[in-house]
Amino acid sequence: MVIKEIFSQIYRINGRLSTKNLNPGVSVYDEKLIREGRDEYREWDLFRSKLAGAIAKGLNEVPLKENSFVLYLGASTGTTVSHVSDIVGINGLVVAVEISSVCMPPLIHLAEQRGNIVPIIEDSNHPERYSDVPKVDLVYQDISQRNQVEILLKNIKAFLKPDGYYMFCVKSQSIDVTKKPRQVYDEVIKELSKHTTVIQTLQLDPYDKHHMFIFGKI
Ligand SMILES: C[S@@+](CC[C@H](N)C(=O)[O-])C[C@H]1O[C@@H](n2cnc3c(N)ncnc32)[C@H](O)[C@@H]1O
Repeated sequence: MVIKEIFSQIYRINGRLSTKNLNPGVSVYDEKLIREGRDEYREWDLFRSKLAGAIAKGLNEVPLKENSFVLYLGASTGTTVSHVSDIVGINGLVVAVEISSVCMPPLIHLAEQRGNIVPIIEDSNHPERYSDVPKVDLVYQDISQRNQVEILLKNIKAFLKPDGYYMFCVKSQSIDVTKKPRQVYDEVIKELSKHTTVIQTLQLDPYDKHHMFIFGKI
């Protein structure tokens, strides 16, 4: 078995993206578990996680390591959250905000099993409602709302450390179905560039259609 650490706590195992399982023996979304000596890894599905897709498409940097604090907006049932939880480890923190009550039971179950995830049922349009969240190293957003950019900027302002980063999954169809995705992306990048430094942009096809992944800092 060939195991290569490509970013801190992110591995390629026989060519497949994986993270080290914080909760050995447990698969979160039916992903394959790979045992190697005392360690267990979880295969990271490129088609089910935009962060995995972005890494596969050539993301140059993942500013996460053990002990990082992350604010994750649009957690859903925790597919990507679980891999971020693996990366930051037991002394790190993933605050997982999700508006849908349907997603909450599996997200709460995941949090109970792992010990480094704090699920919050809330609307990310209102960061003042979860204002006790500590300052974070990364704001990650994957929310299909028309005002995605506004939501991101509000949360960055409220919670991102001055030397922190953001990762933003833009869904062009949620912003404006009448425009070509490229036009929507250009407008989003222009708006973000007024307030932040955009470091890298990646179109996520074929893993996610009509999505752009934007990596940046304040
Ligand atoms: C594409 S899914 C996220 C998938 C998830 N990031 C993953 O990779 O596993 C988008 C999620 O954002 C949630 N969402 C939409 N609007 C929201 C808001 N204003 N605040 C918080 N969550 C929201 C939806 O309920 C949905 O679960």
